[in-house]
Amino acid sequence: MAFEIQIPSSLTVGGGSFAEVGSVLQRLGCKRPLIVSDRFLQRQGLVDKLSALMTEAGIESGVFADTVPDPTTKVVAAGLTAFQAGRHDSLVSLGGGSPIDTAKAISMLAGNGGTPRLYKVPNAPPKYGPPHIAIPTTAGTGSEVTRFTVISDSESQEKMLIAGSPLLPTAAIVDYELTMTMPPRLTADTGTDSLTHAIEAYVSRRANDFSDIFALAAMKTIWRQLPRAYHEPDNKDAREAMMLAATQAGIAFSNASVALVHGMSRPIGVHFHVPHGLSNAMLLPTVTAFSVQAAPRRYAECARAMGIASYTDSEEESATKLIDALYERNRELQVPSPKAFGISEEQYLSLIPTMAAQAMASGSPNNNPRIPTADEICALYRQAWG
Ligand SMILES: [Fe+2]
Repeated sequence: MAFEIQIPSSLTVGGGSFAEVGSVLQRLGCKRPLIVSDRFLQRQGLVDKLSALMTEAGIESGVFADTVPDPTTKVVAAGLTAFQAGRHDSLVSLGGGSPIDTAKAISMLAGNGGTPRLYKVPNAPPKYGPPHIAIPTTAGTGSEVTRFTVISDSESQEKMLIAGSPLLPTAAIVDYELTMTMPPRLTADTGTDSLTHAIEAYVSRRANDFSDIFALAAMKTIWRQLPRAYHEPDNKDAREAMMLAATQAGIAFSNASVALVHGMSRPIGVHFHVPHGLSNAMLLPTVTAFSVQAAPRRYAECARAMGIASYTDSEEESATKLIDALYERNRELQVPSPKAFGISEEQYLSLIPTMAAQAMASGSPNNNPRIPTADEICALYRQAWG
């Protein structure tokens, strides 16, 4: 079966690669970029540092630092206004998934006009927008290498998934030194998001021989290195390995898709404001236990790549070891259940049918090895509660 692979045209990877931003922009012929970031990174001085690096390269930039977690149509519209008012020719996003997702949407609207709603799945933006260089500061969402963005409608609160090649950043700069100050909770949550990307890309019905390589490499690294990065925040080797693996996992799922964990995780995030990586972690062991019977060989390969099982274990034994290890890992990384997170039980239980419908509508459950019914999704939400 034919498949198409899409990755940014250039990835600059390694400690200190942040300083290469000027030459990356010059290579792309960008003369007037708009930096898209957030207030936190601006206060940290990182936005100024980025703009100084550009000035050194003779490039004048503007700043839009009003992005918010879970980017909204309102913020994207403000960013587009700043882009047009400043006569910018390109975007440089700096931050976690939210500034990168915001810049993707600004580039899309600059190139295509209209509003984000016009392009939500199953529609797609037809034309490429201005160049976008993504610089992640978490290890993480993988957004720097994916052709997706998620924008919340400021009116209806709906989280709209937008997919297509024009969303793919033109270039990415992947510098682990930017992640050294991430606190342990953020390290655990963004790292588990990456692990979920790798596992879901590998077991996805849309996996291919290319995405498999990236998925296996990523899960192998993340499984070993995430506890080190979590317990020893200053461990440069662990940070470096996690950063590269998060990008590899991003390449894997951008080219193979995610599946049921992400489908069920997004509604928990919307209704209860649980950070994305954390809601994935809350669901990963339970959903894996539900799914293994449909792809025992694939899950066994995951367990082997992660060093949890060996080739002397049967597929069934390997899958059991994988599920046990995922529960154990959640304990180690102090992942709370929805109940322990402080969500109201009454509200959670009453929203289960709505969340199940939203999960189904996202399309992600159809990529899962075991395709669930709405009732099965409801049961999984109940199972994950306590
Ligand atoms: Fe994710």
